[in-house]
Amino acid sequence: MQDPAFVHEAFAKISGRYVATNHVLSLGTDILWRRKVARLVREMKPASLLDLATGSGDLAMEIAKLNPQTKIIGADFCEPMLEVARQRKVPGVEWIVADAMNLAMPDATFDVVTVAFGLRNMASWPEAVREMSRVIKPGGHLVVLDFSLPTLPILRPLYRFYLHKMLPRIAGLITGQRGAFEYLSNSIEAFPSGPAMCELLNRNGLHSARAIPLNFGIASIYIGQKA
Ligand SMILES: C[S@@+](CC[C@H](N)C(=O)[O-])C[C@H]1O[C@@H](n2cnc3c(N)ncnc32)[C@H](O)[C@@H]1O
Repeated sequence: MQDPAFVHEAFAKISGRYVATNHVLSLGTDILWRRKVARLVREMKPASLLDLATGSGDLAMEIAKLNPQTKIIGADFCEPMLEVARQRKVPGVEWIVADAMNLAMPDATFDVVTVAFGLRNMASWPEAVREMSRVIKPGGHLVVLDFSLPTLPILRPLYRFYLHKMLPRIAGLITGQRGAFEYLSNSIEAFPSGPAMCELLNRNGLHSARAIPLNFGIASIYIGQKA
């Protein structure tokens, strides 16, 4: 659970370097993770999709490529991040400024809601999930992609060393905003991982949530369905 003003300012400061920094820090793996989400979404055949915390539009862009028939809205509360998304000129996506915790859309508007690396940054995870599930149609899906902790406990010390010691230094050199990446490491530690995240989804408007661990569980895709 995070302070929205801090999150907004942090992303406004790094908006111009966000995409490149991601690719460097993950050695390009983040692209494959979003592609996997786009393939899972294709199986759901959504007519309408809302990508929340869309940022510079990376996930919305992957989904649009594989789902040209889907009407996609990419929403974020940070205008400088959306500006980067708009410049990418992705066909089939409309970009809007919106706070995921307080959406203007009526209940049951979208077949699918997606959120990549965004829920972790929100002020209340249960309230955010409830608001997302509110705008999903009955039978529709919420798909969350985010960092998690490795599924094998033996890998966790090594991962934590990278997370807390190396990542803030490397990202600080690229962006000049080391503090933003110390925040990232701490937020990953605090965020529910694996079964804990499935429980969070199941308690807040969704059911049958499942986790798909990626790269030994350093990221996971979570899918829950609206009753
Ligand atoms: C790490 S970026 C993720 C961007 C994109 N989804 C991706 O996969 O790269 C997190 C984004 O969440 C946005 N965000 C955080 N809290 C939000 C909220 N309550 N409503 C809308 N956007 C939010 C930030 O502005 C930022 O653009």
